[in-house]
Amino acid sequence: FKIPAIDNETMKHYQPQSADRAGLTQALKDLEATFPQSVPIIINGERQSSGLKSTGKQLNPGQHSQVVATYEEASDAQVDAAIKGALDAKKSWEAMPWNDKAAIFMKTADLISTKYRYTLMAATMLGQGKNTWQAEIDAAAELADFLRFGIKYVEEMYAVQPPKNSPTVWNRTEYRPLEGFVMAVSPFNFTAIGGNLPAAPAMVGNTVVWKPSPMATLSNYIVYQILEEAGLPKGVIQFVPGPPAEIVGRAVNNPDFSALHYTGSTQVFKHLWKTISSNLDIYKGYPRIVGETGGKNFHLVHNSAPIKPTVIQTIRAAFEYQGQKCSACSRLYVPSSLWKNGFEKELVEQVNSITVGKVQDWNHFMGPVINKPAFDKITGYIKKAQDVGDKVIAGGSGDDSEGYYVKPTVIVTTNPKTVTMTEEIFGPVITVYVYEDADFEKTAELVDSTTTYALTGALFARDRAAVIKGQALLRNSAGNFYINDKCTGAVVGQQPFGGARASGTNDKAGAPSLFSRFVSARSIKEAF
Ligand code: ALA
Repeated sequence: FKIPAIDNETMKHYQPQSADRAGLTQALKDLEATFPQSVPIIINGERQSSGLKSTGKQLNPGQHSQVVATYEEASDAQVDAAIKGALDAKKSWEAMPWNDKAAIFMKTADLISTKYRYTLMAATMLGQGKNTWQAEIDAAAELADFLRFGIKYVEEMYAVQPPKNSPTVWNRTEYRPLEGFVMAVSPFNFTAIGGNLPAAPAMVGNTVVWKPSPMATLSNYIVYQILEEAGLPKGVIQFVPGPPAEIVGRAVNNPDFSALHYTGSTQVFKHLWKTISSNLDIYKGYPRIVGETGGKNFHLVHNSAPIKPTVIQTIRAAFEYQGQKCSACSRLYVPSSLWKNGFEKELVEQVNSITVGKVQDWNHFMGPVINKPAFDKITGYIKKAQDVGDKVIAGGSGDDSEGYYVKPTVIVTTNPKTVTMTEEIFGPVITVYVYEDADFEKTAELVDSTTTYALTGALFARDRAAVIKGQALLRNSAGNFYINDKCTGAVVGQQPFGGARASGTNDKAGAPSLFSRFVSARSIKEAF
């Protein structure tokens, strides 16, 4: 078995009058006509309604009067049934030859790239507030890439075998799935991450209980259905929406819990890690914990950087998808010579030209933030900044009358440790600190020491000595480090994604290392 050559999904551009735009427009209409959809709990492939007799609601964040989906909320008994189902499905899934498993995920990627591309994008747009191009890079491209490159990486991992044998001894390594079940907990902000968190452990033979985000149930349910259509056997992935604390709490308190594959907040991740630690005596083994959490990502600009491209990259990093990427830039450090000689003006002009509105209107750079708590939190931070005397030089307000819209906001501070420089806001707010040109090295050290996070960051400089210096001083400040490019937009197979310190375990989504976390190798020596 040789897997076909793997490449990144080709991006579509949705130009006016194009067939792609027409296709997506139709998919948006068709999907909207089905609202509110009912998202079930799926245990062993069977659709179930709630044991709690309650349902949650996923609203369109751009128009909150529209209910995108109602979702069932799993009861304790259903969570237990999902876990049992995953354990029961394990034997035959594990035994299925790798080629056949790979074919299922390959087919899933093809269905995403063709038959369901626009539907999945439409669900991501209307349900999670992404504009067309943000939905394209997420629900179409990144998800297909995760699956295709995942297959390649697993294939390569299986091929890693001990280099030394002898005529009477054959040494080999067997990559077994973990004993037990894997718990996948996925976020709202990337449909691709929703798919990857259960799919990556499943690819190497694990069975998985998947709790999707309440704010992404529809797109995630579509991902589940695509996996099903591609031939994923019943029970390999159990789809369990519902109350996060109860579901995940129940899973990590189960003796057969073998791994957590998580993307979400640092606080919840730490809480889960502590619970898992306190449960070590009940488990069969030491569970694997793989998590990607928050960020407080930076752009550090040197005075040798060109103004216009740096401003554009910064705006893209800070405001695409309303700053709700874990990789989004929220701290900007600019030397005073550049700031005074055009950087500030260019930044303010460009930010003021950004339009915010409904994602299906095609022409808006920004859509809504995800929900009311996010809206309140983001606008609350803008207020806090003003309360401490920091200056808002662009944006600064929001309007939640119809949807949760916040203007792209730029704050300038003279205190590099001010609240919006240190805390994760997860919205379209960037804070600028202007430093003296001579203090470049001191500022790089400041960038490193300002927060506990280390997810992404970028250095803008044309001067090679500054690149060398900055790269060294910021060595531990980001798991994804960009030179003269924005700190968002990692591509599977090109820039494996993840951060260290409070940002996560840095096991790198979109890289071979991730898969090794979900297997337990057995070394076999056979003598003849
Ligand atoms: N992987 C996403 C990015 O790099 C979060 O922007």
